[in-house]
Amino acid sequence: MNRSDFLAALRATLGPDGLSTDPSDLTHWGRDWTRSLAPDPLAVVWPRDTAEVAAVVRACAAAGTAIVPSGGRTGLAGGAVAAHGEVVLSLDRLRDIGPVDGLNRSVTVGAGVPNSVLQTALVPHGLWWPVDLASKGSATVGGNLATNAGGLRVLRYGHARNWVLGVQVVWASGEITQLGGALHKDNSGYALQQLLVGGEGTLGILTAATLALAPLPGPSEVALVGVRDLGAAVALFGALRQLPVVVNAFEALTDLCLEQVIAHTGMARPLQPCATYALFDVENPRGADLAEWLAGQAGLVQDAALATDRTQADKLWSYRERITESLQPRRPHKNDVSVPVSSMAGLAAEVAQWFATHRPGWQVALFGHVGDGNLHVNALAPSDLAQKDWRLACEQADQALYGLVAARGGSLSAEHGIGLLKKPYLSITRPAAELAAMRAVKRALDPGNLLNPGKIFDL
Ligand code: MLT
Ligand code: ZN
Repeated sequence: MNRSDFLAALRATLGPDGLSTDPSDLTHWGRDWTRSLAPDPLAVVWPRDTAEVAAVVRACAAAGTAIVPSGGRTGLAGGAVAAHGEVVLSLDRLRDIGPVDGLNRSVTVGAGVPNSVLQTALVPHGLWWPVDLASKGSATVGGNLATNAGGLRVLRYGHARNWVLGVQVVWASGEITQLGGALHKDNSGYALQQLLVGGEGTLGILTAATLALAPLPGPSEVALVGVRDLGAAVALFGALRQLPVVVNAFEALTDLCLEQVIAHTGMARPLQPCATYALFDVENPRGADLAEWLAGQAGLVQDAALATDRTQADKLWSYRERITESLQPRRPHKNDVSVPVSSMAGLAAEVAQWFATHRPGWQVALFGHVGDGNLHVNALAPSDLAQKDWRLACEQADQALYGLVAARGGSLSAEHGIGLLKKPYLSITRPAAELAAMRAVKRALDPGNLLNPGKIFDL
């Protein structure tokens, strides 16, 4: 079947508004938040339900046209980029939210439900899905699961994979299978739904999921604290954990990040300038006196703001949550590494030293999730450097960074995934035998290499 017959057949299946080859749609839907990779899909399709997803998969398999499954496209590793004439299969229309089972604390939802819509729907039930992302307005449940999203509350709740009980999947063959269900306990053989979580759409297409839910978190206390460096932030985290509080999140950002947020948003500087800031969010059921505790941390704390109400707390959070959008105009080269929390300060010092020695004059924005040992290293493009020179210089810096991370037993992706961007480096932190096992799984489940080919690894 030639290309126009193939597209006509898809259009006949999906209806006139179910497919587009409009160049602006191809650009918009063919990429994620990664801006260094140019999209070039053949078409974008918007099936209305799982049966239509399966029909698209069968048609693409018959035509030998690869598929890029697509969620909210907020990924940062190129996992949802369609750069080689693929069909972008958007799950955007799969937005059903089933009845909430309050006793079982679960709900079944379509893959296209945005995080913020889900959370709003759960509020009347006193429940929430504890995958809390800065990109919650656009990110979707399906995308969260395909990438095993992390976010701002991993310290307390873990990754997305901890909060899924079952999934509905469309395999590369076009068959539809329910994996798992609404069971909190099920020890009967392989938990295949967990294989698909974090699979970046390479093993099957998730069309619906039964999610485990948590009670809505109680009121929290939030502080932004100026400290001398990331080591001091880590030490403050250790001290905070000695208190009888439940730590929801413990984040850090350097002053360069704060400067960019202030410049981008127009918000006022919240504290006197310090080299680094820690932000923590705690539930405090036993009423520990956090102001007094902060005052007692004189060796670590240079300045601090403790929110006295929710509005102030949200404002303090926004200095952290708005870093990504604020760095975007500077063409950041992003990295997302993790090490044990005990190695976090050492790694940050080594990274700063490496850039100071080998890339003098570069601005490198460091921030991340201290409580998870997850450091975001964002090098900001010098305005006088051409894009291709910038790319090359960053690729060399990546090799050095991953070497430092590997020496500390770390991972080159803590939460963003591998996609296209990290693929060349995966073997630095994953042994050859493990990669061979991953390839064997991919070949078994997708023998035609139809689903998101070229992501994570090449076959
Ligand atoms: C974050 O922590 O804000 C996200 O991982 C996004 C980013 O790294 O820019
Ligand atoms: Zn992050």
